[in-house]
Amino acid sequence: MTQVHIVYAHPGAGGFTRDVLDAFRGGLADAGHAATVSDLDAMNFRAEITAEEYERESGYRADAPVPDDVAAEQARLNAADVWAFIYPVWWADCPARLKGWFDRVWTVGFAYRPLRVRVARQALALCTAGYSVAELEASGVHQAMRSVMLTDRIGERAQSSEFVVLGGSVLAGDSPEQWAQLRATHLARAAELARSL
Ligand SMILES: Cc1cc2nc3c(=O)[nH]c(=O)nc-3n(C[C@H](O)[C@H](O)[C@H](O)COP(=O)(O)O)c2cc1C
Repeated sequence: MTQVHIVYAHPGAGGFTRDVLDAFRGGLADAGHAATVSDLDAMNFRAEITAEEYERESGYRADAPVPDDVAAEQARLNAADVWAFIYPVWWADCPARLKGWFDRVWTVGFAYRPLRVRVARQALALCTAGYSVAELEASGVHQAMRSVMLTDRIGERAQSSEFVVLGGSVLAGDSPEQWAQLRATHLARAAELARSL
């Protein structure tokens, strides 16, 4: 059994990204994996770093305490073998709340200087996007997002990492049949990724 921690960032109750989360969780259940979820919007997770947090981070005070909500997120990551980040692409990156999650949770003395997080076996970024992967690659945005997420944010904190974009909702959205087909393909892929962990 694999213990998976999902960090989910989307404000809506419905929508395609929520369906991806549900399909992924379904795949985890099929494979007998256990999951915890940080639903950042449901938790109203604060994205902005405070002046006090900034002083700790910029002063490299690795042994100073961190806020309770940050400590809770760090404990959930330490308890998991695999991390999955599920979110929509917004302006060529993750939603601000997830960016703020990295600003606040990747603290000195946990994520670096020194790295004390229990290194994950695998980290997976699974995002939905309006553009297709081919369009995101042609503009260079896919490579940029992948590099920021996997090289910088995950880096040595996981033994392996993968960046998967389930794209094309905008163009396919013009045709209900085309979208139904693409949506089904994407949801099947999300479930398969979960089963294969
Ligand atoms: C504020 C905002 C910014 C977006 N920026 C991008 C973008 O930069 N690239 C892209 O491919 N899609 C972008 N989209 C489209 C979303 O990625 C797409 O609508 C989403 O993946 C669909 O999932 P949902 O139904 O769960 O919202 C954006 C959507 C919103 C609302």
